[in-house]
Amino acid sequence: MNVSDAIRSRRSVRKYKNDTVPDGHIRLILEAAMAAPSACNTRPWEFVVVTNEDARKKLAQVHPFAKHAAHSPAVVVICALPETQGRVADGFFPQDCGAAAQNILLQAAELGYGTCWCGVYPKEKLIDAVREALDIRSLPFCLITLGLPDEAPAARGFYEEAKVRFIR
Ligand SMILES: Cc1cc2nc3c(=O)[nH]c(=O)nc-3n(C[C@H](O)[C@H](O)[C@H](O)COP(=O)(O)O)c2cc1C
Repeated sequence: MNVSDAIRSRRSVRKYKNDTVPDGHIRLILEAAMAAPSACNTRPWEFVVVTNEDARKKLAQVHPFAKHAAHSPAVVVICALPETQGRVADGFFPQDCGAAAQNILLQAAELGYGTCWCGVYPKEKLIDAVREALDIRSLPFCLITLGLPDEAPAARGFYEEAKVRFIR
């Protein structure tokens, strides 16, 4: 699958098969995340890969919109490290972590996996709950559920002419 197809066919998947995600694929997915651009190349992120069933169930309990975490073979938690950004890049971590998240979705799509990005930051209650559930010291930014899809939502990309203005 090329990048263009991955972008256009990707949909959020919330039903997964039980198959575990091999470590080699997790590695490729994390490499893709860490290949994302970041302000001043500060790379203000770290990743917690959760396959443990009890931990996934905890995430599903504390995140009202991530119930599917209990049934996805893996959950990648992107955590931000805002304090590592320094003066020039200060405040850009949401964009940096967002770019890493999108790279994960696209790399996973190429490998045949389904994903669902579940937002955490900037919701303080969710941040605290995810932190506590997984004993995370950094700033939980989002959860990405991951696994072989057991549903196939149709591609639905659409172009909205009204949202584009050219200055030529
Ligand atoms: C910042 C962000 C937060 C999101 N949070 C959730 C969430 O908590 N739970 C969920 O099921 N989907 C979540 N989504 C997925 C969106 O609902 C989904 O991307 C959107 O409806 C478009 O559908 P698609 O991904 O299938 O194209 C989130 C997506 C983003 C980008």
